[in-house]
Formats: sequence, structure tokens, C-alpha cells
Amino acid sequence: MHHATAAQISAALADRYATKKFDPSRIISPENWEALEQSLHMAPSSFGLQPWRFIVVANPAIRATLRAAAWNQPQVTDASHLLVCTAKRQILPADVDKFITQTSTVRGVPAEKLAGYKGMISGFIASPGLDHTHWNTRQVYIALGFFMLAAANLGIDTCPLEGIDPAQFDATLNLGDSGYTTVVACAAGYRAADDHTQPSKAAKVRYIRSEIISHLI
Ligand SMILES: Cc1cc2nc3c(=O)[nH]c(=O)nc-3n(C[C@H](O)[C@H](O)[C@H](O)COP(=O)(O)O)c2cc1C
Repeated sequence: MHHATAAQISAALADRYATKKFDPSRIISPENWEALEQSLHMAPSSFGLQPWRFIVVANPAIRATLRAAAWNQPQVTDASHLLVCTAKRQILPADVDKFITQTSTVRGVPAEKLAGYKGMISGFIASPGLDHTHWNTRQVYIALGFFMLAAANLGIDTCPLEGIDPAQFDATLNLGDSGYTTVVACAAGYRAADDHTQPSKAAKVRYIRSEIISHLI
């Protein structure tokens, strides 16, 4: 197992940016896209419930419709790939059952042995005042972060897109009664050489590190 070095991670972080202008002619290779899907598949979530669905929209007509529902942001149609991240609106007892069954199958542990864990999750999802959609949405952002960092490490550019109308996305993607709702989208591909927002042309705007990270010793 070869891990990325500190220098490689730093370089990838310095080079990444929210890409405004993609080069439509540059396409992510199937091998790299596979790794990016893996970053979503392997992303951690609370209890491991994976309360999300990710939709990769290739269809140009659908992408044009989505662009109109995203402040006409060109990244929606011009990037190699468009990912739409959705959150489950509600975690139901059936979802807990499914998760426990999967754990039992994958690990070869009898479901009875997982009763304690199941009870803990069931108790948690029934907590009064727990907004399930909001909770699940927070998990989705973790997956988005994994996806963006994996992309940066592959030299693939991304633009997270919250400037979208989730209701229109839901309608276009037929999410109606799927139980899932759009949270955020992410365009992925390669920057246009003349994108003036890239770090070599526009310095990153960050507060000094000591202001945001403190060390209690
Ligand atoms: C959740 C989220 C939503 C965002 N939505 C948009 C968007 O709709 N359009 C856009 O151009 N940039 C969007 N951005 C990019 C931010 O403006 C950008 O990350 C921030 O200004 C920092 O710049 P940098 O990512 O280039 O370092 C979004 C970023 C995040 C994290």
C-alpha cells in the first residue's frame, strides 16, 4: 500500500479550486472515474447507514435542463461529469433492518448478535426533534468532501454546486416519491486553460491558519 506523501497532499490542495470554466473536450478516464465513484461508495456515514444516493448525469439534454435550474452555471453542462448528491428524507425502521442484514451477511455475524447495535440505531433515529433530512444532508457533505479530495489527488478539477434549485433538480431527475432529495451537485473534469479563477491566476482567499486552527496544549 503506497500512501500519498504530505507534499503530494499539500500540492493537490494548493492546485484545486472551485472551477468556473471547464474544458469540455477533456474527459475523465474510466479508470479515474471508477476511483471517484469509489470515494463516494467508501465515504463514512453516521452508524454506517449510507443515507444517500448519487446520480451521475451523462445525458446532455438532462444536463441542459439542470443548468437552467442552477443559475445557468456553465459547469453543469461543460464539465466531463456531473454528479448530483441526494439525501434520504427519512431513515425508516426498514432501513435499519436492511443495514443490519447487510452487516450480518458481509461479516458473517448472526443478526441476533447485532441486536444491541440495531437497538442503538433504532433508538437514535426515533429521537424526538431529530430532523432526518438535515442529519442525512450532513452525511452527504462528507461524501462530497471525499469526492473532491480524491479528485484533487488525481489532478481532476471539481466545482461543488449549491447554487441550484433542489426542487427543480428533484423534478428533472424524477426523485418525486423516491424518498431522496437533492442536496448539492458537483461538476468534475478539467479546467479550461484560460479559467482566470485558477490558483495560478487568482490567489486563494483564506484567513491565516492560526486564526482558524488553535492548539490546546
Ligand atoms: C457546498 C458548496 C457549494 C458551492 N456552490 C458553488 C456554486 O454553486 N457555484 C460556484 O461557482 N461555486 C460554488 N462553491 C465554491 C466556493 O465558492 C469556493 O469553494 C470558495 O469560494 C473557496 O474557493 P476555492 O474552492 O476555489 O478554494 C461552493 C462551495 C461549497 C463548499
